[in-house]
Amino acid sequence: MSTPADHLWMHFSRMAGADKAPVIVRGEGAYIWDDRGKRYLDGLAGLFVNQLGHGRTDLAAVAAEQASTLAYFPLWSYAHPSARELAEKVASLAPGDLDHVFFTSGGGEAVESAWKLAKNYFRLTGKPQKHKVISRAIAYHGTTHGALSITGLPALKQMFEPLVPSTFRVPSTNIYRAPLHGDDPEAFGRWAADQIEVAIEQEGPDTVAAVFLEPVQNAGGCFPPPPGYFQRVREICDRHDVLLVSDEVICAFGRLGTMFGAERYGYQPDIITCAKGLTSGYAPLGAMIASARLFEPFREPGAMFAHGYTFGGHPVATAVGLKNLQIFEQEGVLEHVRANEAGFRATLERLSDLPIVGDVRGDGYFYGLELVKDKATKETFDDAESERLLRGFLSTALFDAGLYCRADDRGDPVIQLSPPLICDQSHFDEIEQVLRGVLTEAWSRL
Ligand SMILES: Cc1ncc(COP(=O)(O)O)c(C=O)c1O
Repeated sequence: MSTPADHLWMHFSRMAGADKAPVIVRGEGAYIWDDRGKRYLDGLAGLFVNQLGHGRTDLAAVAAEQASTLAYFPLWSYAHPSARELAEKVASLAPGDLDHVFFTSGGGEAVESAWKLAKNYFRLTGKPQKHKVISRAIAYHGTTHGALSITGLPALKQMFEPLVPSTFRVPSTNIYRAPLHGDDPEAFGRWAADQIEVAIEQEGPDTVAAVFLEPVQNAGGCFPPPPGYFQRVREICDRHDVLLVSDEVICAFGRLGTMFGAERYGYQPDIITCAKGLTSGYAPLGAMIASARLFEPFREPGAMFAHGYTFGGHPVATAVGLKNLQIFEQEGVLEHVRANEAGFRATLERLSDLPIVGDVRGDGYFYGLELVKDKATKETFDDAESERLLRGFLSTALFDAGLYCRADDRGDPVIQLSPPLICDQSHFDEIEQVLRGVLTEAWSRL
């Protein structure tokens, strides 16, 4: 006899033994519970999603009300009120002249939409050769063919080759492992930005449409930009008429203490892609926010962006998104993050006394702890050790100790932390306590 566990194909999961996967049944505030009644601190906000925490009945009520009034209607030649209102709200919050909001069902679709818009825009404005994309090594931008092509993680791509041609990688802003200028953040930032110009020139500026960058790169374990990096990238993009796409699927909606990551680091993108925290996870929704300049050719009579998704801008999701952003304002969520982020950093930095913690990096409520074999030399673990450490021990041990977070080795081994934005010092202390115990044990097992 089969069981429900025999039929669910989980995402990015080894399916052998999947019947033993933890089953999460309930959430309240910063905590989740499994089907055995055990409580865990949600140190990852689900998957960088649950900004306002779990169990908010006000968001659930808005979803129920919208579903009863109008559960579904497409945005294909028709509009509905909550999509319009949320678009207006998002446009009012987005930096500079980013004023047109194209809804999707999630982040990968937003990235996909941004690349298609970049190509379409240049075709309509007399530069049809501009179609290539530059992105960073190790960066994750989604799994659809276009978004996966932009993704810089070879291990996620090789099974699906050939992918969409015309994407190129430049180095990330990993200053901990900087090939040069590791002791001078500004010089490192200039160097890292200049690699984008080198790539544009190598490919031919007439052929490059866009650069896709996260404000803080997640995969690899939280690489914030060095000072001046984005300002220089902006100059380079302007010089070569290349669009700067800020992929904020994780970094928007308070994760860095600002509504958008670009705001935190003071740069102006041409497009922002976002999702996750837009609804705090109470409904699935993503968006591509485009500048007035990019929208302009589509104002022409007869012009159309021939692109869309059945569920993009779903009425329930947009109603929830609107309520979510209202709560951000009513409850001062951004102010809360800004008031507490120094405490989060200081608490995590206490873990630097452990021999296995090589680097603690991040901003806002978004951090990565890089684990090393030798702190002095920064020697990392080989594949077998990483497998034993991360998958064989850490992921389960952290969870068993009551902390849901992520041990990841898409780049060097890291622990990723991205708690709900409602968390305060008591939660940070709990995170530190669990990590200290489990990492100490991991070290003793090496
Ligand atoms: C930066 C970034 N872009 C795109 C995506 C893809 O989003 P989704 O999983 O909603 O398609 C993610 C997902 O984590 C992401 O972190």
